[in-house]
Amino acid sequence: MLKRGMYTRIKAMLIAACFFPAVLFAQGGSGDGKPGATLLFVLLGVLLAVLLAAFFLSVSVSNLVEKRRGRTADAQKQQLQDYLTNFSSRQIRQLLEIARQKRTGGQKLVTTLVIVFLGSMHSTVLLAQTGGTRTNLFSETGIIITITLILVPILAGIGIMIVKLSAMLRRQRNRQELEEAEQLAAYLATLTDEQALAELAKRKEALDYHLSDTELSGQQVPADNKGLISNVNTRTFLPFVSPKKKALKRPNIDPELSRLILWYMGCAIFWLLFGTTIGEYLGIKFVSPDADHLSWLSFGRLRPVHTNAVFWGWASLGMLGLGHYIVPMVSNTALASIKKGWYALWLINAAVVLGTLCLMAGINNGGGEYREYIWPVMLLFGLGLVLTLINFLQTIARRKTKEIYISNWYIVSAIMFALTITAVAYIPSWQNGLGETIIQGYYMHQGVGMWFMLFTLGIVYYMLPQQLNQPIYSYSLGILAFWTQILFYTLIGTHHFVFSSIPWWLQTVAIVGSMGMVIPVVAGTTNFIMTFKGAWHKVAGSYTLPFFLVGIIFYCTGSLQGTAEAFRSTNLIWHFTDFTVAHSHLTMYGIICFFLWAGMYAVLPRLTGKEAPQVTVGAHFWLALIGLLFYTIPLMIGSTLRGQMWIEGKPFIETVVHMAPYWLWRAIGGSLMWLSHIFFAWNFYKMISRTETVDIKELALQKLEAQTVATIH
Ligand code: HEM
Ligand code: HEM
Repeated sequence: MLKRGMYTRIKAMLIAACFFPAVLFAQGGSGDGKPGATLLFVLLGVLLAVLLAAFFLSVSVSNLVEKRRGRTADAQKQQLQDYLTNFSSRQIRQLLEIARQKRTGGQKLVTTLVIVFLGSMHSTVLLAQTGGTRTNLFSETGIIITITLILVPILAGIGIMIVKLSAMLRRQRNRQELEEAEQLAAYLATLTDEQALAELAKRKEALDYHLSDTELSGQQVPADNKGLISNVNTRTFLPFVSPKKKALKRPNIDPELSRLILWYMGCAIFWLLFGTTIGEYLGIKFVSPDADHLSWLSFGRLRPVHTNAVFWGWASLGMLGLGHYIVPMVSNTALASIKKGWYALWLINAAVVLGTLCLMAGINNGGGEYREYIWPVMLLFGLGLVLTLINFLQTIARRKTKEIYISNWYIVSAIMFALTITAVAYIPSWQNGLGETIIQGYYMHQGVGMWFMLFTLGIVYYMLPQQLNQPIYSYSLGILAFWTQILFYTLIGTHHFVFSSIPWWLQTVAIVGSMGMVIPVVAGTTNFIMTFKGAWHKVAGSYTLPFFLVGIIFYCTGSLQGTAEAFRSTNLIWHFTDFTVAHSHLTMYGIICFFLWAGMYAVLPRLTGKEAPQVTVGAHFWLALIGLLFYTIPLMIGSTLRGQMWIEGKPFIETVVHMAPYWLWRAIGGSLMWLSHIFFAWNFYKMISRTETVDIKELALQKLEAQTVATIH
């Protein structure tokens, strides 16, 4: 039995631990005046940690007590029998051996078991030490007058207390187990019943049973009579990378459509390389601001060149290319018009080329972010989208399926939203005063949420189940995510301007809506992750699934990070800092780019019949992922500190100097990301290149056939 005195001591220690911070707090206050907010925050954290530890320990103690109290004689006997049932073959052999020896006057079994458990310690020693800890901690309180002196003894005390208490509990548990072992030994010693021993011998035989390894094949040499195994190789070698599964080829795709999609992707990749080369240069300019003195290459002009090129050139064309594959595919019909597809492609490319030149020449819309292209340029982009919308709607109207698959819901509504927001952003009526700011928030957030995110989700709803070769986990969750995304995303644009002069209630609506975004994000993430159920092993053997997985993880974390940024308390620190830039890249890069890459690696082999070299796909994946982490994590840390420095009223230039190392990390991360795009472009080239590869087996057969024909004639 656990002694009553010991419980009292443990409880006293737990209660004392809970009140430690309060006691120290009071003292700190009396010494130094009121502790600051940071100190309050730290002490609250410590209190929480102590409470958690206390809770954990008290649960352990009560479990221990319950376990002891609840053991009736019957239950005890049952448990001893359970031990017997679960004996391994070796243990049964040992037991039978002992029984045999006993019969022949051998050693007593009890002695053997008791010896095994000798060496356990007595808990009274421990109890004496616990008292010491308490005294030690309380004696520290008198000298607590500064933050350091407050925290050091508390943390040390908590640490020691936790170590001591858990050691005490462990010893108590050991003692309990020792008792149980003694009881079991006594029970086993009484086990002389012949029948029981025979049962045990039978059980041992069962446990020792082994398959002969020839059950399925008999004595014959194994052979693949059904032709199920391919790529047989009897030579053993150490591969550099583990081989991935080959992509499925689908030769029955209209070659005209294939060409169109390949051009969309090719142009998208060109804009990725161009746009991120600019981004890389911008990143370098943060480290070396005097890199050049040309107006066309100034930071203010190049920044929108980067954002617009990656938005409208890379991500938009990449999405539309995949859309041209998915929309007809899930409608089970041909694309309504290949021609419209080409017109849209040229219009959008023209918009990005002209837009880039205009921006570099200093000709811009003068408006907010992502709408820096002048209106005639953006009109070209809009016309491209109108053509695509008509084309996709006509295709869906001719579908040979009853339902409209969820991908098409997402894709078509994304184009509708993009057209709506572009019109809203460019029509002059609302562009004055505060209205302009509200429109900017609306446009900017719908741009990322209702164009890129919605379209990309449509791609994932088709591609992910296809790559996993199993249906999407829940169609209903997909619909829920769809409608809640539309409900909340459209309300939250003004969270970009928290604390600005736009109405307070409008900001509050945006903040509440940002919290509501948790619903579609969690629904979507759950749906995707659950689709992996039972197929996780496929991730290791596939080169598209890791891209999907990273995209899903960032979809969840990046979006929830956005929710966290929208609160007034956090926005106060992070707004105007590079935290937003980190969030932009975690989402636009971590979600959108990774999903687009996944989709492209899945579709391209189906169009061209060729796969990218596995090693360079791996290089693309890892450089992009590691680069993104190098880019974003230091920026998040540096920006949080910078925001705090601003709040503390530090001079602006001091915070610029503070950011220097974090910007260097961004430039390093950006360089890795940029390098990964070179690998991606190379992989694309390998998948579309016409260079013939020699298939030795095919060639040998052809040669043999030719020789045979020649000999016959
Ligand atoms: C739950 C979903 C999300 C919420 C609540 C959210 C919230 C926010 C907030 C509050 C800001 C402004 C921060 C500031 O300036 O102080 C922001 C900026 C931004 N977000 Fe999100 N975000 C979400 C998801 C996304 C996604 C999915 C993307 C991209 C696909 C994205 C891309 C961006 C970008 C590019 C900016 C920078 C805008 C600028 O240039 O100022 N966000 N987000
Ligand atoms: C090699 C890869 C990339 C590098 C080195 C890079 C670098 C940069 C830099 C230096 C900025 C300016 C930040 C500032 O003003 O403080 C920026 C802004 C931005 N970039 Fe990138 N970028 C890269 C890729 C991308 C990609 C692929 C996308 C989207 C698909 C993207 C979207 C953005 C956005 C939305 C902003 C504006 C951020 C904001 O205002 O919050 N970037 N990038």
